[in-house]
Amino acid sequence: MTHDLSEDTRNILGLQLPTDPRWVNLAAMDIQAILTDHAYCEQKAALTCISLIQRYSDREKLVFDLSPIVTEEWGHFRLVLNELKKRNLSIGKQRKDIYVNKLIEFQKKGGREEDRMLDQLLTMALVEARSCERFKRLSEGLDDKYLRNFYRRFMESEAGHYTLFINLSETYFDKEKVRIRWNEWLFYEANIMDSIEVRGDRIH
Ligand SMILES: [Fe+2]
Ligand SMILES: [Fe+2]
Repeated sequence: MTHDLSEDTRNILGLQLPTDPRWVNLAAMDIQAILTDHAYCEQKAALTCISLIQRYSDREKLVFDLSPIVTEEWGHFRLVLNELKKRNLSIGKQRKDIYVNKLIEFQKKGGREEDRMLDQLLTMALVEARSCERFKRLSEGLDDKYLRNFYRRFMESEAGHYTLFINLSETYFDKEKVRIRWNEWLFYEANIMDSIEVRGDRIH
């Protein structure tokens, strides 16, 4: 597991399946749709951080580490919203998030509270990692230079969030336990990526 960031987020943080190369071309065909989906992803990231703080309010580090992330994700949402406005586009309707729903299916529901908490942290780490990978594809594959830079900034930020969620996991759980479960998540996620339709109007 890598904790280094800048090095173009080394192999995109352990993800087992790179994004289908057709995806960037599909996304480029409808900027309104991809910005809309992106806007909702940022909202959901902020919301999930808030609910983790509420659920695990007795974990001081988690509460303090996630508080600024709520602000950051909300800032991301506003950036995307402004980008839509600048282009005279409006935010569309929220769509069903098949990717995240499938990830949630893999979370332990019963059993020990601790195991459920670990899964929630690793789900976030994974969404951040995949988002980072997708933003990297956009930052490299779009024709519009402005948008390439726009996505580059998100890519770096989400890589930082990935690291934060892994660090939190390792704060509260044994490193080996985290490593084993993270690998299970990585393989599960690769299967999802392989099975869901490649759509240009979705970040994931
Ligand atoms: Fe974000
Ligand atoms: Fe994030």
